[in-house]
Amino acid sequence: MPQSAPGDLVSVYVTERRRRHARGEIVRLLESGSARVTPPCPVFGRCGGCAWQHVDYTQQLVSKQTILRDAMQRIGRIPLAELPTIVASPSAYAYRGRTRLLERDGAVGYRERGSHALCALRACPILMPELDRRLGVLADEVAASVQPGEREWELALGRPGDVRATSLASGQAPSPADRIALEVGIDTLELSPGTFAQGNSMLLDMLHQTVCSRVGEGDSLLELFAGAGFFSLALARCFAHVQLVESDAGAVEDLRANLSRAGLMNVVVTPLCAEVAIPDRIERVPDVVLLDPPRAGLDPAVLRCLAALDPDRIVYLSCDPATLARDVARLLPHGFVLRSLEGFDLFPQTPHVEALAVLVREDVA
Ligand SMILES: C[S@@+](CC[C@H](N)C(=O)[O-])C[C@H]1O[C@@H](n2cnc3c(N)ncnc32)[C@H](O)[C@@H]1O
Repeated sequence: MPQSAPGDLVSVYVTERRRRHARGEIVRLLESGSARVTPPCPVFGRCGGCAWQHVDYTQQLVSKQTILRDAMQRIGRIPLAELPTIVASPSAYAYRGRTRLLERDGAVGYRERGSHALCALRACPILMPELDRRLGVLADEVAASVQPGEREWELALGRPGDVRATSLASGQAPSPADRIALEVGIDTLELSPGTFAQGNSMLLDMLHQTVCSRVGEGDSLLELFAGAGFFSLALARCFAHVQLVESDAGAVEDLRANLSRAGLMNVVVTPLCAEVAIPDRIERVPDVVLLDPPRAGLDPAVLRCLAALDPDRIVYLSCDPATLARDVARLLPHGFVLRSLEGFDLFPQTPHVEALAVLVREDVA
């Protein structure tokens, strides 16, 4: 229930009754539970960005482990003997290295919770300090040049001290000069405005190392949803043949530029939707498949083709436990077992949790 914390005693107005559950709105907080803390942000509760600042960080981690286990059990019908492990963010605030903001009527901010209204901001405690300062400057710039209509801004942090604020005006193709550089392992990844990048600056290395180690090494790797190559550059050194599938044109340009700068010649880039690429554009049967789809997860056709490709291992990174549970449950009957499931807290102060599942073929398990 929004704004409640584990252990709270609340008075509730029931708005919807179902056979096995009911929905309601909190009328009054009668007694605070031990997990309730004072949110540091003055717009918490109104801003749509964070939902859990009133919950102690240790409790947030336990709740995310429970969300992950419950999704596997309820949606996937996959029993887990224990709660999955979760990697905490080294900092529960000041972690975010990239964000999108809305500009409207001379102000900039996020949407209000449950509304299209703008929650104007000059600061945001989950942003990395450099981005937070840049947000204050952007708020001044926008106030000084009130423009009609609304536009979206992206604030991004590259190498330490390298901050970019870009207006994502529709129809404008980003130029290579707009790219920002991120150090990942031994590689430099250049990213254009609008290209996806993992959001928690403090966990980038940990996520990168863990995913690469779960993928391992071998002859042939297929990576679907490759983005600008966050995992692909390192993995291309661990496999003889690599095929990368990505549908976003901007991300594909960045990906090709990143591969070329790293001198990686053993990689084929397929600039198509996974749904189009996987039925008949796969160049070689993969030993391992890496998946990192958007929240919607995998299209049923992609799942069927994946199962038919029959890889030894599927490594699935997901930002949505529900679609991950659904997809894992659909893959298991094709002869796979779930070898591991682990969480990463990329988004403290929100209910979001990133999860990494490794499936292996029963006969190689
Ligand atoms: C969660 S991001 C992961 C990107 C990359 N793995 C990373 O860590 O930066 C998902 C990526 O999938 C791409 N994408 C979305 N739908 C797709 C589809 N149907 N087929 C292929 N790529 C898709 C997006 O453009 C985005 O780059």
